[in-house]
Amino acid sequence: MKVSLSILTADFANMESSLKEALSSTDYVHMDIMDGEFVPNISIGPAFVKSIRKITDKPFDTHLMIMHPQNYIKQFVDAGSQYITFHVEADCDVLKTIDLIHSYNIGAGISIKPKTKVEEIKEYLPYVDMVLVMSVEPGFGGQSFMMDSIEKVEELCKLRKENHYSYLINIDGGIKDTTAPYIAKYVDLAVSGSYVCNADNPKERIDILHAIK
Ligand code: DX5
Ligand code: ZN
Repeated sequence: MKVSLSILTADFANMESSLKEALSSTDYVHMDIMDGEFVPNISIGPAFVKSIRKITDKPFDTHLMIMHPQNYIKQFVDAGSQYITFHVEADCDVLKTIDLIHSYNIGAGISIKPKTKVEEIKEYLPYVDMVLVMSVEPGFGGQSFMMDSIEKVEELCKLRKENHYSYLINIDGGIKDTTAPYIAKYVDLAVSGSYVCNADNPKERIDILHAIK
C-alpha cells in the first residue's frame, strides 16, 4: 500500500527536522485545505503549500475541503500540486472543475464525505484520476476510522475493474496499523496523518503502513 502523508497535525514550525525521514519515505504528501465554510476548521493555503515544496520533491496530493474549489485551482497548481481533489458536495459544477484541473495537466480527484454514497459519483468516474473516500467527517485529524468506508473502496475497486476505469483509489481518515488491513487490498494509496506525525519515529510508521497488504 502506498502512503500519502497528511501534514495537518505536524508541528509546522519544525516540519523539516521532525519529518525529514518520513518525507523521504512517503509516496505522496497530502495537503489538507480547509476554508472554515465547507468544514468547521481553517488550515493552510497555497503559500504554505508552496513553501513545503522547498523541503520535498514528493508529489502533492492536495485535498480541497472548500466550498468553491473552482476559484482556487490555479493557486494550488502554482503551489506545486500533482493531484487536486475536491468534494462532490461542494458548490461547484463537478465536470467543469475536473476539466479545469485537467487544463493544467495534473490529476483531478473527487472526494466523498462519509454520508455520500458511491452511487452519487458514478457519472464522474470515467473522467477522474483519483477518488478519495473520507473515512472520517472532514475537518480534523486524529479521528477514528469509520468502518462503512470499507464497502465504498471495495465498490470503487469493482466498478473500476468492470468498466476499465483508471482512477486511483485513496482513503482518508483514521488510517493506522490496525485499520489499514481492512482497506489495503482495495486502495492504491491511503492518507495517514496523526499516526505518523505524532509518533516518536514517523518513518517507522510509514514503513509499517507500506508493509500492509
Ligand atoms: C481530515 C483530513 C485528513 C486528516 C487525516 O479532514 O482530510 O487528511 O488529516 O488525519 P488522520 O490520519 O489523523 O485521521
Ligand atoms: Zn485529507
